[in-house]
Amino acid sequence: MVRRKSQRISLFFTTISLAVGLIVTACFLVLGKEQVPVTQKSNEKYYWQDSKYNDIRTRVAKQSGSTYQSFVEYPVTKSPEVNQRIADTIDEFDRTFHAEIEGRLPAGKEPFMQNTSYQVIRMTDDFLSIEVVTSRNTEDALVHSGTAYWTFNLETGSEVTLADIFGDEQSDGQARLFIYLKRELARQAKLKGIPLDADKVANLVTQEHMKSFLAPDADTLRFDFGQGVVASESDDPLTVTLSISNLQLFLQSETARRLFTIMPIGDAPEWKAPEVNRGNVDCARVKCIALTFDDGPGVFTNKLLDTLQQYKAHASFFLIGKNAISYKDVVKRMQNDGHTIGNHSWDHKSLPLLTPAAIDAELSQTNTEITKITGIVPSYMRPPGGALAPNVYAALQRQNMTAVMWSVDTRDWADRNSDIVYNRVVSGAKPGAIIILHDIHKTSVDAVPRILKALQRQGYAFVSIDELFGPNAAPGKAVSHAS
Ligand code: NI
Repeated sequence: MVRRKSQRISLFFTTISLAVGLIVTACFLVLGKEQVPVTQKSNEKYYWQDSKYNDIRTRVAKQSGSTYQSFVEYPVTKSPEVNQRIADTIDEFDRTFHAEIEGRLPAGKEPFMQNTSYQVIRMTDDFLSIEVVTSRNTEDALVHSGTAYWTFNLETGSEVTLADIFGDEQSDGQARLFIYLKRELARQAKLKGIPLDADKVANLVTQEHMKSFLAPDADTLRFDFGQGVVASESDDPLTVTLSISNLQLFLQSETARRLFTIMPIGDAPEWKAPEVNRGNVDCARVKCIALTFDDGPGVFTNKLLDTLQQYKAHASFFLIGKNAISYKDVVKRMQNDGHTIGNHSWDHKSLPLLTPAAIDAELSQTNTEITKITGIVPSYMRPPGGALAPNVYAALQRQNMTAVMWSVDTRDWADRNSDIVYNRVVSGAKPGAIIILHDIHKTSVDAVPRILKALQRQGYAFVSIDELFGPNAAPGKAVSHAS
């Protein structure tokens, strides 16, 4: 009897634990489904990767078939609505890719390729400005690409539209915005030598087409026109940025005030186009792109210099002064090989936290050591951690230096994954882009040959910052890409 009873009890517990297990599994499935809005494709492998943003993870999905390879990064935020919206667009890009290659064979040995990644343009507690870029190589040397972008309210999971910040389609705000946007688009196209008449501008910049925007900082509105959108398929993407100071009169809504710095009316400075002095390479004719490497030199830098030499590519190195004195031969070689040598502070302290004298010391001590090795005083610097503040700008003015920021963040220091570094550079590439990497990581240095090969195949020229902007683009100011 005793034995029967214990058997019953154990059966009872087995049933209970099975039920609990089922409930837990069901919960995971439901939660998991919420976290991952996309269904896994039949021949897809994926893994998770942290991003540098606390609330965003990346679902890295790889697909390959007999004729193609696909590499797609889905951003996954805490908002299921946001994730769904972005995943829908990425999946639409994916369907286009598969439609283009269906029933076809690649002409050469290389398979058809799709690379899709995202860039967080700005993230605050309340808002996320994010862009998805895709690049499809489905013909020999003819690359198609796609761009989509949004600014989301993270609290509600809904997109913030132009109507939310300027007022509805009939408002003065939208009217003024569209005049300004048309003028800037025409100006950008002219700078790039892209034929674009007033009719075409009017057809592109309509309230039907233009609902989304990017807010890269509190003073800027940004609109990206993907490849082939402005003119023919072979034309490059265009980025148009508008200064909030020219529009703030119309940005009086609560949402606009949370997104942007709205100054008292009358204090707005007049916006001026920056004057850019280019070096020997004519980046108006050639698609120029700038690879930049921070935190070195290190043990892998010489190998990187070998690779750059092999591909006849120029790059830029933002050196930590303390490291430079341990690798004098490497620094000398950088200069001999035609790269730009910039300043990344003496010991990587966050500059905004320092006194004016200490910021000056971080910069000048490094400049002095670099000058002793190369005979040239650096005019470009990159602030450690990208941290800029009024006291740093003041030091740049005193030192007659330009801060070089970036337009493509590979986040290579976080992921330490050559595949991801390669994917982010190739998918984010556009003429005038500045790409941030770190040559102290082996995984980043290992990604460089593939990056150079893939983008040279697309007609890009790898230039130094000196070649992109000239010897000192904007003393006392910061640059993040060439127009
Ligand atoms: Ni750094």
